[in-house]
Amino acid sequence: MQVLIILISLFLFLFLSLARLWYKLWWNPLRIQRIMNEQGIRGPPYKFVHGNTKESFKMSMQVRDTPMSNLCHDIFPKIQPEIHAWTKAYGRNYLSWHGTQAQLVITEPELIKEVLVNREKTYPKPPPQDFVKQLLGDGLVTTNNEDKWAKQRRLANYIFHGESLKNMVPVMVETVHEMLARWKHQEGKEIEVFEDFKIFTCEVISKTAFGSSYVEGRSIFQMLTDLGMLLTRNVPHVRFPGLSKLWKTADEIEAEKLEKSIFDAILGMIKKREEKVKAGEAADFGNDFLGQLVKASRGTDDSKKITIEDLVDECKTFYLAGQETTNSLIAWVVFLLATHPDWQEEARKEVLHVFRNNDPDAEGITRLKTLSMIINETLRLYPPVIGMSRQVDRQLRLGKLVLPAGIKIGIGNLKLHHDPEIWGEDVHLFKPERFAEGIAKATNNNPVVFTPFSFGPRICAGMNFATHEVKIIISMILQRYAFKLSPAYVHCPVPVLTIRPKLGLQVIIQPL
Ligand code: HEM
Repeated sequence: MQVLIILISLFLFLFLSLARLWYKLWWNPLRIQRIMNEQGIRGPPYKFVHGNTKESFKMSMQVRDTPMSNLCHDIFPKIQPEIHAWTKAYGRNYLSWHGTQAQLVITEPELIKEVLVNREKTYPKPPPQDFVKQLLGDGLVTTNNEDKWAKQRRLANYIFHGESLKNMVPVMVETVHEMLARWKHQEGKEIEVFEDFKIFTCEVISKTAFGSSYVEGRSIFQMLTDLGMLLTRNVPHVRFPGLSKLWKTADEIEAEKLEKSIFDAILGMIKKREEKVKAGEAADFGNDFLGQLVKASRGTDDSKKITIEDLVDECKTFYLAGQETTNSLIAWVVFLLATHPDWQEEARKEVLHVFRNNDPDAEGITRLKTLSMIINETLRLYPPVIGMSRQVDRQLRLGKLVLPAGIKIGIGNLKLHHDPEIWGEDVHLFKPERFAEGIAKATNNNPVVFTPFSFGPRICAGMNFATHEVKIIISMILQRYAFKLSPAYVHCPVPVLTIRPKLGLQVIIQPL
């Protein structure tokens, strides 16, 4: 009798597990596909377990390493070939599948606005999965916990606005001087500047947010970069649901090790601060970002208190968000100015008029109109961040569509930035004059078509910090050097966390 009960239980368990699997892998995707198809939303058909990841990966591989001819800026088909192909085939909004996960990709401005403004708080960020979780944790960029977000966002706003931002200008200037001192030995020669801009952006975020130097934070940056590489490499791979709990791939094991080492390294940095306070070498934990985080983790006020895990996640977030993106933007501004000597000259005239040969200061930075136009046009053509995503937790209405619970929303901002219907037939040309009368005029009073820093409450917290940094480094280069592309440069933008030049950026600098 006992054996029979065990056998029946086993049978029931197996039956229920198989039914659950069948629901997840087959019935539910087809159900969602049917609901969306009936509303006119089509897309590449769902394929068992893999969804469309194989096709998407194949499309990327076909174009990824092929350089672009004539320094062309039409990067959308190269960077997001699947969105390019599927919007052409199925319309501005379509349904695709990352494994069994349905994703509604939207490129219609009105829908994007509704999702990003998120008035009813119905479009949270999807919880970070696997490698993203290890890379950014549940920090400000990724969290969908409203209370936590509000707490951390207040802190970030405090650190990166107004007076505190002003106080960071001298540090940024000093860091450019360090880079220019290295360039002194390279005058008239070819230099690869992408790596220099990486060191510069690492230094700036290390000094301003963490009160340390690139050398001190180097191992953290390196580990985050390695983790980012693992993430990029694994995006196209779909694992059978639940399998990663039973068996880990070499990349998953490596990612776990990196996550642990990053955690320890950041704790080490915090400990150093505590020891300084204990030894009487410092009055408190400091006023920079790290200092504020440590204070928040030690405080007694529950509305401000954060855990040590939150603290580490926030540090990872700012190391990464504060560096990769700005590194990419500076590189593309230099690339575009190197290939448009007329705009390089215009920008130099403005910089010399505002600062003469003095170091940039906070007040002058706000008067750099031409440089702002150049930066905006660079962000339009080469936005460092090319994907934003949200999720739908319960059935809801988006525009005329009724969306079932459980689907994700992918926002295709790169398509909008390269859309001739929005920007005109010259959409792929570098024309900073589009922004001469501001973003509102350039976008025909529809600013959601230009979202390099996102839109709505989750707009980038480091936007002003990043634009200050870019304006300072470009101004100081323009004050000293004329630069042009080296014949060695190969135009091959690739998406690796951000859009970057695959083989670096080689320029030749001539002292003025
Ligand atoms: C050119 C440089 C940058 C670009 C293009 C950029 C772009 C973005 C974008 C598109 C988002 C929103 C993502 C979404 O809506 O899902 C974002 C969020 C964020 N960025 Fe940036 N970013 C840049 C620089 C920085 C810097 C320098 C920092 C910090 C020092 C930073 C910190 C953040 C944070 C904390 C968030 C999350 C904000 C929130 O969810 O409340 N970013 N960024």
